[in-house]
Amino acid sequence: MSILKSKKTTLNNIKKRKLGEKITMITAYDALFAKLFDPYVDIILVGDSLSMSFGGDDDTLKISLEEMIYHTKAVCKGAKNSLVIFDMPFGTYKDEKTALKNALKVYQNTKAHAVKIEGGEDKAHIIKHLTSNGVAVMAHVGLLPQNVRLEGGYKVKGKSEDEEKQLLSDIKAVEEAGAFCVVIEGVKSDIATKMSKAVNIPTIGIGAGKNTDGQVLVWSDAFGFFEDFQPKFAKKYLDGAKLIKEALQTYVDEVKSGKFPSEEHSY
Ligand code: KIV
Repeated sequence: MSILKSKKTTLNNIKKRKLGEKITMITAYDALFAKLFDPYVDIILVGDSLSMSFGGDDDTLKISLEEMIYHTKAVCKGAKNSLVIFDMPFGTYKDEKTALKNALKVYQNTKAHAVKIEGGEDKAHIIKHLTSNGVAVMAHVGLLPQNVRLEGGYKVKGKSEDEEKQLLSDIKAVEEAGAFCVVIEGVKSDIATKMSKAVNIPTIGIGAGKNTDGQVLVWSDAFGFFEDFQPKFAKKYLDGAKLIKEALQTYVDEVKSGKFPSEEHSY
């Protein structure tokens, strides 16, 4: 069944979706794909994942605020009805002053509706500073990709009682600080369920089971374009790389054989 969105998604619509219709979010990094995704999803995330899937980096740590602004401007041109979220890059929200300065730069230079920052209890004071200065924040708890070097890899969370306790404190802290919504990444499903139940703001899961209020996927994972690595949680809805390779091979063959361009494609 195809359910195309006819109205603009607002922050308030999203807040009301706690325990309601599931929220759908996907990443996009340019106007072309944002325009394609816009009628279908509620939220488009300009994720710092772009530094891996499109920038060819090993992790998300090297992308700059200016690079993210460039991509977000493009996404905003393609996304007419979706809520657009700007993922704050590593190091751009290390303290309250830096976070506000950079988030204001994002608001002043793009049409993004909110920023996303990684962290729980430890980042609650930053979320509070941003929200009390007029910046909407989507929080991100659980597995934090920007901690990959600190933690020596991507570690699923919620495997011990201590971790469970910390995750519950984290999600409550970001709600209390004013986040309108929270991404839960890489958490054991039963713990993610408890986390989702512990707060009144909507939760959006990625590798966190089915009991969150919505789901997010990185588009190059969802459509099979990122061949280096397929995380367990990322369902492939299209074998994009295979389709592109086959089409490209046909183009190359037709150029070589003289089949392309034909009369039809000539002036
Ligand atoms: O950068 C990103 O795409 C993200 C999602 C994985 C939530 O943060």
